[in-house]
Amino acid sequence: MIYPVARRLLFSLPPEVAHRWTLGGLRAALAVPGGRRAVAGLTAAAPRPVQALGLSFANPVGLAAGFDKDARHIDAMAALGFGFVEVGSVTARPSAGNPQPRLFRLKADGALINRMGLNNQGAEATAARLAALAERPVPIFVNVAKSHDKTLSGDAAIGDYVRSITLMAPLADALVLNISCPNSGDGRTFEDPELLGPLLTAVTAALGADGPPLLVKISPDLDRARLEAVARLALDAGAAGFTATNTTVDRSGLSTPVAELDAIGNGGLSGAPLHARAVETVRRLRDFVGPAVTLVGVGGIRGPAEARAFIDAGADLVQLYTGFIYGGPRTVRRICAGL
Ligand SMILES: Cc1cc2nc3c(=O)[nH]c(=O)nc-3n(C[C@H](O)[C@H](O)[C@H](O)COP(=O)(O)O)c2cc1C
Repeated sequence: MIYPVARRLLFSLPPEVAHRWTLGGLRAALAVPGGRRAVAGLTAAAPRPVQALGLSFANPVGLAAGFDKDARHIDAMAALGFGFVEVGSVTARPSAGNPQPRLFRLKADGALINRMGLNNQGAEATAARLAALAERPVPIFVNVAKSHDKTLSGDAAIGDYVRSITLMAPLADALVLNISCPNSGDGRTFEDPELLGPLLTAVTAALGADGPPLLVKISPDLDRARLEAVARLALDAGAAGFTATNTTVDRSGLSTPVAELDAIGNGGLSGAPLHARAVETVRRLRDFVGPAVTLVGVGGIRGPAEARAFIDAGADLVQLYTGFIYGGPRTVRRICAGL
């Protein structure tokens, strides 16, 4: 009941300021005596145990990449009921990302557009933070991307990914290879099969036989042939599954006026308008890869109905980001209750 009021206040602030305030407030609430119990009383999610990737999850609803880029809020996100947290994207080199403003709300569409540009403190800082965790309250996925630098391509780009993978692998319950960020420095993604094959070979060699399971995060904008080519290459290299999907560059069918979209400029679209397309990607992947491969469905989940749509399409786990911004701290509880 309080969140609609809080949201009105938060939505009057620039999105990145609202993000900082919310997380600051949540951390403060957890730190006061009795605060953790009070928060958990409001937000705790009903158990919906799931096994996937050789891991046990209290529920299948995870926090998607991009919200906790530097692994600073795992404890708080677990307190809000998330069954797992994906930190990152982490890149080998720290990056301030693109100039602000770079995150925009499309309230009429229940969506966000972002061109954050992979701002993060870098793999070394995040590895140190993960290594120092006293507790790991939920499985921790680490999402790795290429450093934000348009001159970084070919073997240098592969070396850059491998540097992060080598640092993060011992600290991750699962590694997610982000090959689909629409905001990479050079505007290209590693979904081009010519680039992806050598990248996957190098990454799986760096992980070795004892490394954590590898998921490949893909875009919703691939046609069927390209999707299947990417999936085939990833499975041949030993990937355990896929996260589908990243944000889309498609802006068709939005209620937000075109002039407003033009004023926003480039960026990936997330939230409600992405949902059907992301579910369709999961469905196509499940048809193509068969039952043994793990699929994480993400895109436009706001409540139990969208989570259920992913599960019915073949997802083992689901994640959200934008629906959490719009829905507030009890979103995971609501989803788990309705599943
Ligand atoms: C502000 C913002 C930043 C994001 N940053 C990342 C990122 O660093 N790495 C990544 O793989 N995905 C990133 N994503 C994509 C999300 O993880 C997710 O795939 C996408 O937003 C679709 O889910 P949603 O509709 O629930 O938001 C970001 C999304 C948003 C909105």
